[in-house]
Amino acid sequence: MWALVAVAVVAGASCADTAGYCSDNIFKNNSTWMQFTKEPVPLEYGFEDKFKSIHCCVKGYRSIEWFKDGVAYPWSAGVSNLILYPEAANQTLYTRRAARADTGNYTCRFSNETHTDTHTVRLDILEKQTDAPRKMFISKDQWVEEGGELRLYCEALIGRSYLADAPSELRWRKVWANGTEGDLSPTQTEIKTSRDDIEDIIGSYLEVKRVTSQDYGTYVCLVHSNDVVLKNNVTVHYRHGGIDGYGPWCGGSALPWRALVLGAAAGALLLVSAAVLHKRCMPRLLLAARQARARAATPAHRARVLEKEFDVLVCWTAVDGELVRGALLPTLALKYKYRVHAVPLPTQPDTWYSELVGEATRCRSIVAVLSPAQYSPHQLLTALRQLKALPLPPVVVLLQDLPKLKREAKECGESLVSMLRGSRLVAWRHVHERAFWTALRLALPLPPEKTNPMEADNKNSRAGSLTALV
Ligand SMILES: *[C@@H]1O[C@H](CO)[C@@H](O)[C@H](O)[C@H]1NC(C)=O
Ligand SMILES: *[C@@H]1O[C@H](CO)[C@@H](O)[C@H](O)[C@H]1NC(C)=O
Ligand SMILES: *[C@@H]1O[C@H](CO)[C@@H](O)[C@H](O)[C@H]1NC(C)=O
Ligand SMILES: *[C@@H]1O[C@H](CO)[C@@H](O)[C@H](O)[C@H]1NC(C)=O
Ligand SMILES: *[C@@H]1O[C@H](CO)[C@@H](O)[C@H](O)[C@H]1NC(C)=O
Ligand SMILES: *[C@@H]1O[C@H](CO)[C@@H](O)[C@H](O)[C@H]1NC(C)=O
Ligand SMILES: *[C@@H]1O[C@H](CO)[C@@H](O)[C@H](O)[C@H]1NC(C)=O
Repeated sequence: MWALVAVAVVAGASCADTAGYCSDNIFKNNSTWMQFTKEPVPLEYGFEDKFKSIHCCVKGYRSIEWFKDGVAYPWSAGVSNLILYPEAANQTLYTRRAARADTGNYTCRFSNETHTDTHTVRLDILEKQTDAPRKMFISKDQWVEEGGELRLYCEALIGRSYLADAPSELRWRKVWANGTEGDLSPTQTEIKTSRDDIEDIIGSYLEVKRVTSQDYGTYVCLVHSNDVVLKNNVTVHYRHGGIDGYGPWCGGSALPWRALVLGAAAGALLLVSAAVLHKRCMPRLLLAARQARARAATPAHRARVLEKEFDVLVCWTAVDGELVRGALLPTLALKYKYRVHAVPLPTQPDTWYSELVGEATRCRSIVAVLSPAQYSPHQLLTALRQLKALPLPPVVVLLQDLPKLKREAKECGESLVSMLRGSRLVAWRHVHERAFWTALRLALPLPPEKTNPMEADNKNSRAGSLTALV
């Protein structure tokens, strides 16, 4: 009686182990159609004379068939020792004693009523444990919406550790904008995995429940054993909310969005584009008024201004380097006396937030110089989203008119237009165009007064308001 119970328990335990693989860490989506239930691992390792199982974790299928190097299951002893494990609904093959001859490509073919799909697992049966780690799976680059869920997976066969106190490990790290690797943030959680068949196979999920701007960028899966380090990168890119982008005016006719943008730019420029002369002076009067008010500011206010190292962070990408270094930076710093912090950005906008967020804390305002012509509408949207997520919403200097959007508008026109509407845009025309500088300076905080405020007050107040009008 007790013997029977014991046998039942042991059998139950080993069944649960092997069947468990395809029910652990499955994707949490609700769809019922045929699909993988977890990341399909294409490479598997086993050891001679040891237990080994391989899997094809799927749901919504009617049948699964297996092939080894094109030969259909069941296999004769000369082909493979692996047998089906029916309790796992044919998703698992296993052998108690693997042999070198079991090495090969195992393909599962699964079908529902209408579709058939396959997955191939390359199984390598090794003679003995390896020294260096071997990669088995790493997620591909991902495109994730803000607020969406992120899940990355990495799995590897680690080497046998020579030293008891130097255990092998596998973990995720974030690659910072400056190229160094850092720890994950508290919202980026790691879930470590192990296998029941081979204890040298370890893995790790990196999960983020709600993706925010900080989560974009590159992650590295670091596998470490016996002083050998294996690194694999995955980059998480922005994805705009594609499907919901179908707006009422996305029918394909020319969009009013160009007009909208020009309107927004004109708004930022206040009345600069108006033909009437006296209106053209308005922004400069506003600026002069602000400067006068600043001169009356309290010492406490002045101290607050000086708390930050810089007044303006100016960022730009390679195409605009010449213009920014040659005209924008010197004019802001020398003519208008801003304390300027210069930060070049990579052309791809995916990581702008992380590049800028640290530097932004040292500055009172941000100016982002953008050449829309080098970007697709999607990239432009990404760029604006990354900038908008910063703690200080930047002033965006547009070096060209925004591109015409017609075909692409379907996908992202609407979100782009609303993003542009919410941004502070200033259109660049020419280095000597005063209206541009006035608009830019109106959008920025005033630079601190250089001289001792007590003396400066009397001497410079008239000159100051005049300079503003020059
Ligand atoms: C289910 O979710 C996973 C990851 O969350 C994803 O890779 C997969 O494509 C999803 N499947 C469907 C049909 O949405
Ligand atoms: C799955 O469906 C349930 C109930 O319909 C819902 O509450 C849950 O949010 C869904 N989960 C996902 C990941 O869509
Ligand atoms: C079969 O699976 C495919 C792919 O997952 C799915 O698109 C299709 O709707 C499924 N067919 C049926 C009848 O469930
Ligand atoms: C599982 O495999 C057995 C043996 O090859 C086969 O008879 C059975 O139909 C398969 N079941 C499924 C659901 O594929
Ligand atoms: C398995 O497939 C890979 C790539 O498709 C191929 O290079 C390799 O030779 C195959 N192995 C066998 C034993 O057929
Ligand atoms: C790289 O950036 C991170 C955060 O952005 C910072 O903590 C780290 O000190 C930087 N490292 C170097 C070498 O600049
Ligand atoms: C991973 O990314 C970092 C930073 O982006 C880069 O320096 C490194 O060369 C990349 N490594 C690989 C293997 O692509």
